[in-house]
Amino acid sequence: MVRAIAGEGTKMSEQSGTLADDPFRGRRPTSHERMTGLPWDASYHDGPAPWDVGQPQPTIVRLASKGGFAGAVLDAGCGTGENALYLASLGLSVLGVDVAETAVAIARAKAADRGIKVEFVAADAFDLERLGRKFDTVLDSGLFHTFDGDERPIYVASLASVTENDGNPICLVFQ
Ligand SMILES: C[S@@+](CC[C@H](N)C(=O)[O-])C[C@H]1O[C@@H](n2cnc3c(N)ncnc32)[C@H](O)[C@@H]1O
Repeated sequence: MVRAIAGEGTKMSEQSGTLADDPFRGRRPTSHERMTGLPWDASYHDGPAPWDVGQPQPTIVRLASKGGFAGAVLDAGCGTGENALYLASLGLSVLGVDVAETAVAIARAKAADRGIKVEFVAADAFDLERLGRKFDTVLDSGLFHTFDGDERPIYVASLASVTENDGNPICLVFQ
């Protein structure tokens, strides 16, 4: 079951109640969350997040048309799932993961509405090995650049742990 993990506009230090006691569910807040004082989930409480363009990123569409995605695909930090949904609509097997449970819930609702077979789960990109799965293509659209210099090597090692030996990592950095 998917539940919101923090109240609208609620700051880290102002939480009370069972879920709000730990909006991070035991994980260490990322550098971005420490900087903003808000869990990523809060980005999805008041309508679309600024990066959420409501459709797949044009670069993803272009790459896919050139055969850039193959086999099992992981979308790390999938947000509300437009890239994952697009790739799944092409017939690829896709798992989207995100720490923001509200985003995961929205992505699942879109998949159901559109009748697209795709998986979305709430998971931490720093601990992907826990998925117990390997992927042929690993997509990062706008996640890597949110991490600071200490986090990036940990994230890359986590990605490597779920990427097949001949797998293909694809990273889109927003400017
Ligand atoms: C800039 S958004 C990009 C969302 C989506 N990939 C897109 O292209 O629209 C970054 C996403 O990464 C997620 N995220 C941040 N830290 C994460 C982590 N440690 N594990 C999984 N997802 C994370 C955020 O919740 C957010 O949905």
